[in-house]
Formats: sequence, structure tokens, C-alpha cells
Amino acid sequence: MNSSLEIQNFKSKKSDFFELISYEKFRDTKNVRFFDISINKSNCRDLVIHNGPAISPPNDEELGNWAFYIHHNQEDNLLAISGGRTFFLVNFGWEYPFYKVRLESCGYILRIPRGTFHRSVSDNNGSIVLNQAIRDKGATIESEFKVINIKDNKKLLDCINNLKPKFKIFSVK
Ligand SMILES: [Fe+2]
Repeated sequence: MNSSLEIQNFKSKKSDFFELISYEKFRDTKNVRFFDISINKSNCRDLVIHNGPAISPPNDEELGNWAFYIHHNQEDNLLAISGGRTFFLVNFGWEYPFYKVRLESCGYILRIPRGTFHRSVSDNNGSIVLNQAIRDKGATIESEFKVINIKDNKKLLDCINNLKPKFKIFSVK
């Protein structure tokens, strides 16, 4: 079924850009929707549940600074199963480095390439996101889930403070 996946790719300077992947709907019956959401090469499934308007990774408790994850050995493929979640993405290899992408329940799958700073904020009612990740050999919890406070990364701090994120909303009705 993956042959039917449609991938929307955006312009990038030298790094892979994020992608939005649509997937095949088998059929709808009364009150039932039925999809194949398989991502080729995904070798693990992470489920991320936010209760209420959670932020991941959480802001720094003392000053409220934003924090980010960056994976060097993992590609994320994120699908909101329920609720809505907004992602902030920064990658200095892109033509424009700062994006805000909103995922809505059963919308597109957001592929975040390796080397992209990312954080997410759920809607008030929370959200459940399935990550069909591709985790490389050598990836560990420590290497992939280190929290980066923007105050410790000047380039990231300047980007967040001086640029407006380009905003994209992706949902499938
Ligand atoms: Fe991630």
C-alpha cells in the first residue's frame, strides 16, 4: 500500500526538508474510517500521549525558555491519532530555517529529517501521536533525547527571537 503514498516535499538548500506524507484510505463504512498508515523502513513505533496542553520537551522551569530535541540517528514520522499538535522545526540547512507545522487528527504524516531541532505543543485537550520512526544503529535514549535549552545554543536562540516561523496547517478531512 505504500506505493500509493503521496509525498509533498519542500525546498531545501542543503539538508533534507520536512515532508508531509498522505496515506491510503481503504474505505469508509458507517462511522468507521480505515487507513493504511505504514511507513516503509520504519523499525520502531513510539506512542506519545499528551494530557492537556503539554509541551515536549518541556520549557525550562526557571525562565520558561523553549527547549528542543534533535535526532542525529533517527527520522521521525509523526501522525496525530487524536487531538491536534503544533510542531516547531528549525534546521539551518534549509533555505528558510524556521517552520511551524500543525498536525490534526488523522491528517498527514510529518516526516522530520535527522538534524532538525523540534518541539511540540498540544491543543488544550491534549493529543496522541504515533511516531513510526526509523532508528539507526547506535541510537540511544541518551543520544536522541537530550533536551537542548535555547539559551545554551546562540544560533537557535537568535533564530527563535528574530525570525517568524512560516506556518503550515495540514489536515485531511
Ligand atoms: Fe523526535
